[in-house]
This record gives sequence, C-alpha cells and structure tokens, in this order.
Amino acid sequence: MRAARLNTFAGIPLPFADTVRPPLMERIETWLTEHSDRFVDELTDFLRIASVSADSRHLTDMSRAAEFVRQQLNGAGVEARIVETDGHAIVFGQRTEQADAPTALIYGHYDVQPPDPLDEWHTPPFDPDVREGCVYARGATDDKGQLFTHIKSVEAWVKATGSLPVNVKFVIEGEEELGSDNLDRFLADNRDLMSCDVAVISDTSQYGPDMPAITHGLRGLLACQVELTGPNQDLHSGVFGGSVVNPANALARLVGTLHDADGRVRIPGFYDDVLELSDAQRGSLAALPFDEAAYMAAIGITATGGEHGYTTLERRWARPTCDVNGLISGYTGEGPKTIVPARSMAKISCRLVPDQDSAELLGSLESWLRANCPAGLELKFTPFHGCPAVVFDTDSVWMRAARGAIETAFGVAPVLIREGGSIPVVTTFRDVLGVDTLLLGWGQNTDNLHSPNEHFSLRDFQRGIRASAHLWQQLANTRDQAGV
Ligand code: BES
Ligand code: MN
Ligand code: MN
Repeated sequence: MRAARLNTFAGIPLPFADTVRPPLMERIETWLTEHSDRFVDELTDFLRIASVSADSRHLTDMSRAAEFVRQQLNGAGVEARIVETDGHAIVFGQRTEQADAPTALIYGHYDVQPPDPLDEWHTPPFDPDVREGCVYARGATDDKGQLFTHIKSVEAWVKATGSLPVNVKFVIEGEEELGSDNLDRFLADNRDLMSCDVAVISDTSQYGPDMPAITHGLRGLLACQVELTGPNQDLHSGVFGGSVVNPANALARLVGTLHDADGRVRIPGFYDDVLELSDAQRGSLAALPFDEAAYMAAIGITATGGEHGYTTLERRWARPTCDVNGLISGYTGEGPKTIVPARSMAKISCRLVPDQDSAELLGSLESWLRANCPAGLELKFTPFHGCPAVVFDTDSVWMRAARGAIETAFGVAPVLIREGGSIPVVTTFRDVLGVDTLLLGWGQNTDNLHSPNEHFSLRDFQRGIRASAHLWQQLANTRDQAGV
C-alpha cells in the first residue's frame, strides 16, 4: 500500500510515523483547506474565458481555455499537452507512477453553451460573480467548475504527499456541447494511450441539496432540423392566402403528428427496442424521495405532462421522448402583418433509452416527417448529433469506491440515480475502451445549466474536490479486491 510507504524510510518502517506526520488523508484535507480560496480564484479565471464552442467568434477563447486547462494540469503534476483536432482542441494529460495500481481516466469539457438570452443574466455570463455562496457564470457547473475538482484533488495529492495512489489520465475536450465527434475519432485512434480501468466524470447533478448521487444511467440523444419551403417569398395573405400550402400551418401540423393523445411518440418503430423497466427498477425509482409539487413550483408549471402510465422520475430518466427545441416562421415582430410565410423551421430532438439505436431512429424520424409533409412544400432534413443511452452495473468495485469517497466527503451516503441528460463520450468509453464510467455529479439540477444565471455552489465545489481526493485512495484500495 502506498499509504504505508510514506511511513517507511528505505523500506524500513519508521516507528510512530503517524504521530510524527498526520495520516495521509488528513494531511491532504489540511492542504485543501489551506488552498481553498486559491481554488476559487483559479476557477473564476477559468470562467472568465468565453469558451462557447458553437460560436466561431469565440475561436481564440476556445484555444485560451484549452491552454488554461493544460497549464492547470501541469501545475498539478500531470504532464499535459494540447491535441489539435478538425474542430476544437483536446487536452490530454497523464501521470503514471504506480505500475500495480488502477488507472482512472478523467473526462471533462471546457466548452460551454452560448450564454443567450443575455438580458436575463443578473451579472454578465463571463464576468464571474460570487454571491450567496455560489459562483455565477456560464460554465460554472457545466462543466468547468465540476471538472476543476479533479484537477485540484490531484494537485493536493501531489503537493501534499508527493505522489498519487493511482495512475491518472485526463481528457478534457472542447466539443461536448456539439456532440463530441472529434473526441470519438481521437479515442478510436488512440486506444492504447487511453487504456484505463475506469472513467470518472463530474458533469451530472446531485439528487438534491446535500443529497450527493452516483448516476448509473444517462439517456441517449438524436437531434435534427427540419425546414419547410413553400412560395418563393412571403405573400400577401389576402391575395394568395387559402390557395397555397402555408409552411407555418403545415409545420405546426407536422410537429403535431409526433405524439398521440397518450403522450406516446408516433414515429414507427420508436418503442421497438426500448428496454422496459423491471419492477425492481421501478421500485427503486419510486423509493427515492420526490416532491412533485416542489418540482412543479421550481420550474414554474401547474401540471406535469408526458407519456401516460409513468411517474415523473421514470419519464425524466428512463423513457424516451421527442421534443421540439425551436420553432420559427413568418413575422414575429411587433404588431400584425398579414402574410403567408415562405418558409418555416423546427429543431427536434429525441432522448433515448437502452437499447434504442440513434442512427436508425433518425432515419425513422425523417421518413415519418416526409410521409406527413403535404404536397406543395419542400422538406429539408438536417441530422445533427446522436448517441445511445447507457446504464451501468451498480454493484462494481468502482461504485463501491465512489460510494465510500462521497460518504467521507459529504458526511452522507450517495443515492443511486439515473439522469435524463446525455454525455456522448460515456458510450464511447464503454464501447471503445471497454470501461464503466463513474458519473459523480457535484452540481445541482437547479444550477441553471444551459440557462441564464448558471451557478455552482462553492460548498459543493470544495466538497467535490474532497470527494475526488478520497476517490483516488479508494480506487487504489480496489487493488486488494477481486477483478483488478
Ligand atoms: N452535462 C450535460 C449533461 C447532463 C446534465 C447530464 C445534467 C445529466 C444531468 C452535458 O454538458 C450536456 O449538456 N449534454 C447535452 C448533449 C450534447 C450532445 C449536446 C445534452 O444532454 O443535451
Ligand atoms: Mn456538461
Ligand atoms: Mn451541457
């Protein structure tokens, strides 16, 4: 055990070593406390970089963010380099010092969502503001603040003890919010470099305040855009209206065909491969505390909606969906304007569950839209990203290690949950590297990820760093257990 090595000199045990030097984890805890303010300063420096991957005006910010991560990793004792791709750069880092210890692959993304709508922010999105115990900025929780916890915990081990009890590899990319296409290529081309025992990602949420969670399942995704074109320009709706197919009317009908009256998706074959929840799985979801009224109040709705016959948690985590993400046509400015618009456009995405196939269903969705599009309109279909859902075994040595680490840092055992969002790389890690991912979210669902006024609790930030520091020790301990 590495912990023992620190109490020896040239292999000879030192008597009373523990009274001379506090035990390892205590030393790390002390170091973390002493440096906690600096971590917040560094995080705000990171958050000041407007690394919006979707917006080409931020290309230099993307490079700056990658370089910031590289320097942070180097400063933490992890040898890191920038890997250029056809899109935004990947930062790869590595620290290998324990031949017989497990290797953890830590993933995070330095890219953030566009900050719009800007006028709904109380303070500017790239001018981090600390108030009421939280840091407010785009990327605070998704994912800069969360990924930072692992860099800081590694730094703590290296600086407070001189070594790490496990081997670590870091892959921090800049295209998660775009679907991680270039990362998938990088992983497939560099399997040996990426070889590891388990992946670790903090890019999900706790179940609630002071309710840390391990997420063992995520939904998959498919996304597309559909454009309908009718007349060659907007027309007077009195002169021409009633004699041409109106692209706005038609698009409304078209998105109306996506669901039946029971909230089920009508795309043919949509449910064919869905792995239904077992009674035991439904039971464990039902056993989680869930306040439906508080949930509705938090998001400002007066009734929940969705597929009949399922609970809210089942609908959010374990049932597939089809949602319009955006819809636009015609005149949307002030006052009336009597026209038949020339075109209309909708963005549509589906959340998927095991064992649905995103590529196949993208085809089914396109066929369904074409089959239901009236004559007289041209339909253009543009597919975006897609990824399958994942669900992991909850009874692994890795899960046990994570449970122990979280319980130590948070003072309470984590609950096991699934979540409805998607992190495309998780399936790539499973399929290409053959490893499970520990999804250890330190954020909250109410952190406004992707919304105005995104924030991250500094208490969760510091507890996340501690849990991460304990995780490395717990993972090292798995050497003594079966399977490693
Ligand atoms: N961190 C989120 C995913 C997430 C959030 C999972 C909360 C679970 C709980 C991630 O950055 C994200 O936004 N993913 C996208 C998918 C991507 C391909 C655009 C998503 O889920 O929409
Ligand atoms: Mn994220
Ligand atoms: Mn996101």
